[in-house]
Amino acid sequence: MKLIRVENYEEMSSSAAQLVEQQILNNSHSVLGLATGSTPLGLYEQLIRGVSERGISWQHVQTLNLDEYCGLAEDHPNSYRHFMNEKLFRHIDIPLENTHIPDGKALPVEAECRRYEALVDRIGPPHLQILGMGTNGHIGFNEPGTPETSLTHCVQLETSTRNSNARFFSDRDEVPTHAITMGIQSILKSEQILVLASGKKKAQAVKRFLDGRVTKDFPASFLWKHNHVTLIVDQDAYSLAAAEEE
Ligand code: GLP
Repeated sequence: MKLIRVENYEEMSSSAAQLVEQQILNNSHSVLGLATGSTPLGLYEQLIRGVSERGISWQHVQTLNLDEYCGLAEDHPNSYRHFMNEKLFRHIDIPLENTHIPDGKALPVEAECRRYEALVDRIGPPHLQILGMGTNGHIGFNEPGTPETSLTHCVQLETSTRNSNARFFSDRDEVPTHAITMGIQSILKSEQILVLASGKKKAQAVKRFLDGRVTKDFPASFLWKHNHVTLIVDQDAYSLAAAEEE
């Protein structure tokens, strides 16, 4: 595990963007694993600037997103497809057909999960996977208790996850109860994993992650089984782990 400590959210975002852009410069046909949530928003802004200001081309890049809410159509303002289109894809030169996200409306959902896992194997696995971390240690939508062997599957979201994601919806009851997510094993297939954490509300999760104990009660801890993980953490997110060091 490589730990990169930075000052704040802006530095976390630009340091992550440098790694992503380096990956694209090394291999113009890179496969990138992408995440949603507030954490990667600054990274996506930097990547958009990378296209206009640094001449980075996404023409041959393929992307695989981690997860999608069940029951939301692609054009629903809270679907992750909509999020990715608005926050990144429509501002860069990636052909939309190179971008892949589970289909939250596909039925039966088990067939969609199998289709997506096969896609991860066919197109990917990602050269570089971006990850945020839930306050309960979830990665993608793999909630505590998810087995290490899990592939893309449908999950029931925890109350804490629905509560923290309610800020994006007009009413808490509108937050979907289920989601499709790449599993722990699917995520661990990636060549390299980049975990981002920023802000005081992630401090407890970062501290627990850095204690290195692998347990399914804290899904992010499975990342310790991977040999090419980088964690970029800002001062606030590192504050409790730092207090431990003293
Ligand atoms: C969401 C997403 C995760 C994300 C996490 C953290 O539920 N499914 O992929 O990493 O929660 O979100 P945030 O970055 O907004 O803290």
